[in-house]
Amino acid sequence: APRLVVLASGTGSLLEALLAATGDGRLPVDVVGFVADRDCRAVEVAQRAGVPTAVVRPQDQPDRAAWDAALADHLQGLAPDWVVSAGFMRILGEAVLAAFPDRVVNTHPALLPSFPGAHAVRDALAHGVRVSGCTVHLVDAGTDTGPVLAQAAVPVLDDDDEASLHERIKVVERGLLVEVLAGLAVGGVEVVGRRTRWRPARPAPQ
Ligand code: GAR
Repeated sequence: APRLVVLASGTGSLLEALLAATGDGRLPVDVVGFVADRDCRAVEVAQRAGVPTAVVRPQDQPDRAAWDAALADHLQGLAPDWVVSAGFMRILGEAVLAAFPDRVVNTHPALLPSFPGAHAVRDALAHGVRVSGCTVHLVDAGTDTGPVLAQAAVPVLDDDDEASLHERIKVVERGLLVEVLAGLAVGGVEVVGRRTRWRPARPAPQ
């Protein structure tokens, strides 16, 4: 089965969803490693599941490039087919992207290209949109700018705050991420310019 490494910085509910899906056969991959950039609940989730876990902290490195190189090094040691940023709150640098070209996937809690960055849900609410959602995409050198793999829409309700909207998005996002990773594991995807085309080994996620 394809080897997957997951990156996260926070609660780790996406990681939990991925691990549950590997357990019940919806996601035919081996989660061979987990990496965080800080101490967080996701680390406990990974450890509890017996996934080899590391914390690669920016403050332990002299600069951003050194952190990026340390992260790339660690990831290469795990020999993943796919690296998944699932709630990882840092921009991945050149060393990581060069090591895994078109092999790094990110999930983002908005319909890109609207509301990139670290405060997507807050920004969408502040803008007053009536529909937001989530985007799973390949990572490139920009911030949330890589080719889109799949998106799902989620309504914004009148009385939503950041927490309630984010939770409604995450319910959909967990399912979408599992679906996309299963699609990558089984059939794969072709990237033509900015557009992605699913190989037909399995029905394409929307
Ligand atoms: C998810 O909604 C993910 O899209 C978002 O963090 C959440 C993590 O949830 N990521 C970003 O905003 C990246 N810019 P979790 O900690 O419960 O898995």
